Amino acid sequence: MRVEIAPSILTADLTRLGEQLDQVLKAGAERIHIDVMDGCFVPNLTFGPLLVEGIKPIVEKAGALLETHLMIEEPESLIPDFSAAGTDLITVHVETCPHLNRTIQQIKALGNKAGVTLNPSTPLGSLEEVLGDVDLVLVMSVNPGFGGQTYLPNSTKKISRLRQMLQERGLSDVDLEVDGGISPSTAREVVNAGANVLVAGSSIYNTNASVSENLIKLRTAAAGDSG
Ligand code: DX5
Ligand code: ZN
Repeated sequence: MRVEIAPSILTADLTRLGEQLDQVLKAGAERIHIDVMDGCFVPNLTFGPLLVEGIKPIVEKAGALLETHLMIEEPESLIPDFSAAGTDLITVHVETCPHLNRTIQQIKALGNKAGVTLNPSTPLGSLEEVLGDVDLVLVMSVNPGFGGQTYLPNSTKKISRLRQMLQERGLSDVDLEVDGGISPSTAREVVNAGANVLVAGSSIYNTNASVSENLIKLRTAAAGDSG
């Protein structure tokens, strides 16, 4: 299975964002992951549509996908703005969407790919009725809100069970993404369990090595090579 890397800019050096984006894109990142937090659904505040609009040309020029992870209450009210700003894929948390089918349809009607995200404590059963309608499922492997947290080991079994659910339904084209605590130490485990898109923030941006070296190390680990 081809594995894609989605660097999260949450832990990037924002004074050098353009430069750091160029570096991960040149090193082969297939996606750029934007973490949108509202200080309500999660205890932190981050980026809005203006940031998406600002970085879109850099991501587009590199032929990468720009994905927006909405950790916000009532995402329906801001989905049109993130779409208009140039995001390619929007993923919403099932915990924030009482009318999840409608929200998925809203995203698709705007011409975007649609994803659904589960917090660590949210069971896979909540996806039963929507799995056939989405392009991506994002499994949170930390409780969302901050970068730099430790991977929750129970996530591995959840990823395996989700991969099995997708296979049983003939939905192998649905991406299975994992987000939180992904580093060269955990990448192989999640890929073996069935993840094919890895979000990584601090293991790419918060080390002494260059961001491109970090991305290559992560990809090597995900592929199961020792180095
Ligand atoms: C967490 C965010 C993640 C975060 C991952 O709430 O959704 O995308 O940036 O950061 P690391 O890779 O540092 O765990
Ligand atoms: Zn995220």
